[in-house]
Order: sequence, then structure tokens, then C-alpha cells
Amino acid sequence: MIQATYQFTRGFLWGTATAAHQVEGGNTNNQWYVWEQAGRTKGVSGLACDWWGGRWREDFDRAAESGQKAHRLSVEWSRIQPAPDQWDEDALEHYRLMLRGLRERGMTAMVTLHHFTHPLWLDQRGAWENEEVGLHFERFVRKTVEALKEYCGLWCTINEPNFYAGLGYVTGDMPPGGGGLRLAIRVQANMARAHAAAYRTIHEIQPKARVGYALHYRPAVPRRRWFPLDAITSRLRHLGLNLSFPSAVSTGVMRTPIGRISMPEVKGTQDYFGLNYYTADTTWFDLFQPKELFTHAGFPRGADLGETGMIANIPQAFYDALRWAVRTYPNLPILITENGIDSSDDVVRRRYLAQHLHQIWRALNFNWQIKGYFHWTLVDNFEWERGWTQRFGLWALDTDTQKRTKRPSADLYAAICKSNSLSTEMVHQYCPEVFDNIFPPFEG
Ligand code: BGC
Repeated sequence: MIQATYQFTRGFLWGTATAAHQVEGGNTNNQWYVWEQAGRTKGVSGLACDWWGGRWREDFDRAAESGQKAHRLSVEWSRIQPAPDQWDEDALEHYRLMLRGLRERGMTAMVTLHHFTHPLWLDQRGAWENEEVGLHFERFVRKTVEALKEYCGLWCTINEPNFYAGLGYVTGDMPPGGGGLRLAIRVQANMARAHAAAYRTIHEIQPKARVGYALHYRPAVPRRRWFPLDAITSRLRHLGLNLSFPSAVSTGVMRTPIGRISMPEVKGTQDYFGLNYYTADTTWFDLFQPKELFTHAGFPRGADLGETGMIANIPQAFYDALRWAVRTYPNLPILITENGIDSSDDVVRRRYLAQHLHQIWRALNFNWQIKGYFHWTLVDNFEWERGWTQRFGLWALDTDTQKRTKRPSADLYAAICKSNSLSTEMVHQYCPEVFDNIFPPFEG
């Protein structure tokens, strides 16, 4: 066997990512709780990973012991501001404790201020459909950042505004369950303006803060490139899903499939680019899918799939996504804010992890400014409308007993984090089936 080591850049930030509603448990004052009670999810979040009950401690211990240097978590707006004129100082203290817990373990905290959930009172006022949301978000951000600034300087304003709008208003898989493209675009526009206001507020409070948002970049590759309807519709899908939000932040003009919206105040409001990448879609024209811009999405025949078929392991598309990000933002550091795959037996996760990190290593060789990687996720958690049917954790969770069980990927990831490298030994031990793919044999 050849011996080689792919070394990552010094100081590369290795971590995992989570979101409040998915791990905390007992969140009963947000729109997802109502959605769960209405039977729209596969199971309910319930206790989740019981982080609100204190089990974040043991999970942070696991992360730190396995060499992780950072953790991305989110705060739950409905806990911090349960009513429009009410702040819960105990909730803020709870988050301070958690962030201090990360610091004590030598880990960098990244805090997301909005990860899909918001308080019911805001929902009753139209949430992100209503332009006034910007004012509410700004107040919430000010209060939260003031309270947490001692322990955090790396902020993500909004997680996946594009997916929040797309899944909530176009496909209807997430609350509010539909509304159409126009509304989805209005929501994205309100999110972009609110993001920009939050960006400025955070910098006012903490001038050296690094602030951005996380985009879910999911390429749409036409199935038949020669067929104009596949090509055109996939381009439109790509524009609506992947490009609209970033176009607003880069240029101050949001480009959408149905026109442009000027928002000059949004231009330049990011200090890093946050990329969530899971997979790439193959898309084709479908007359019966007007809602989704006449596209149907699937994966190539024989694709290497996660357990529930929602994610295909396509590492090359991740490399392409990185290239797109670097070309779009040549002067910004890039953070991979999420990446992962569902697999309870962990087999596909091991190779997915190694193959995707290999792509980052390739990119680093061109001096692309990728500064960190947050794997989704630390421990199995509540996967939104898919509930507990998907297992994304490096550690498995038994929801009846709250017992965690380490999966082999946790050891693989620990070896990578601790050595800041990916080696032939690791690949040989954890995913020998992709050895030749990651370390191609020399053909002289
Ligand atoms: C979301 C996470 C989610 C993950 C896997 C991402 O789009 O940000 O909250 O758990 O996908 O489904």
C-alpha cells in the first residue's frame, strides 16, 4: 500500500454543527412545535438530545475529546423573546453557560441567530412574509449579541434563507406549507434585508466580529444538456435556489427567476462566506411541476445514496461548489458551515466524509481560502419534517434512553481533526472501498 498524508492548512477549524430546535428539546413556543403537533413531521422533537436539560455538557466533552476545535450552534429566538415585550434572561444565561462550556473545552463558538424557527408571536404576524420582521429580528439580534458577545465573535445571522423560503413556500415541506414562488421571493428579500441590518448591528456592538450567513448550495445539473427545456429550467432553478440570496449580498440587487429587486443596503454585508453543501440534483423538465419552475429532481442512476435516498454522495460536485464560491468571493474566507449524510449503519458516512474532505484538501492546494469545516452533525438529532427517520450523527442517539453510541465515523473524524490531515492509513481502515479514488494509483 502506498503511504501518503494529505495535510490541511495550519489553524484549519474542525468542528460540528447543530441547531437549537433539533437538539434542545422542550421548545414549545415556536412554529415548528405547532407543525409537529399538527402531525406534519415524522415524530415530534420531544426531548431531542436534551441539551436544554444539560446534556450539551457530555456532547461537548465528546467533541472536544475527539479533537474538534469549534462548534456551530444556534439560539432559539422563542426562548430568548417569548413575547414581543418580554426577554428571558434565564434563557440568555443558559446560552452563556453553553458558550462558556465551549471555551472551557478550548473550542471556538459560532452562533447562528436564526435556524428555521421563530416565536409563535412572530408567526402570528406573518413572520418573514411581513416586512416588519426586519425590525423584530434586529431587536432580537441586539439583545442576544449584547448578552453573548463575551463568548462569541463568529456569527451566522440566518441559516439557509434559500431553503427556508424554498421548502416553506415552494415545496411546502416545511411550515407554513406553501404559498408559491412570489411569496418565497418576498421572504428571501425580507431575510436579506434583515440579515444586512443584523450585520450592521453586530458590528456596532462588536467591531471585530466576523458575520455572515449560511447558504445551502445545491447544484441543479440538467439531465440532458442537449435538451433546451432541461437546460433552461435547471438554470432557473439554480438561479432561484442558489443564486438569488448571494446575488443580493454581493451586488445589492437580488436576481430572481421573476425579476430583480434592488436592495443596495444589503451589498457587502458578509465577512466570510458560509457554505452548506450536501449533494447535487440532476434535474429535468417536467410539465407537471409548475410550482418548482417545471423541474423534477433526482440523482444519476446507480448513485451512492444515504440511507433515505435524500442525499447522494457526489464529492466532485462539492469541489465544483467550492470553486463557485471562490470565484464568486475571491476576497472572502470560506467556511463549510454544514456537510454530512444520513446513515445509521455509518458505512456510507465514512466514505462520504473522507471523500468530501479530500475535495477540500484539493481546493486548499490552489490556495483557496477555506478556513474551516463543520460536519453535520455531532449526535443524531430531530431532522425537521423527517423527524427521527434520518440519522446524521457521528454519535447515534437512542431517544428512549438518551444514550449515545459512537459510530466509527466519529473515530475517523477524530483522527483527522487531531492530526489536521487525511492519511492512507485512515482511508484504509475506515473506507478502503474508496482508497483508489482518494489516493489514485500512480500511472507512470
Ligand atoms: C439544515 C439542517 C438539517 C440538515 C440535514 C440542512 O439543510 O440546515 O438543519 O438538519 O440540512 O437535513
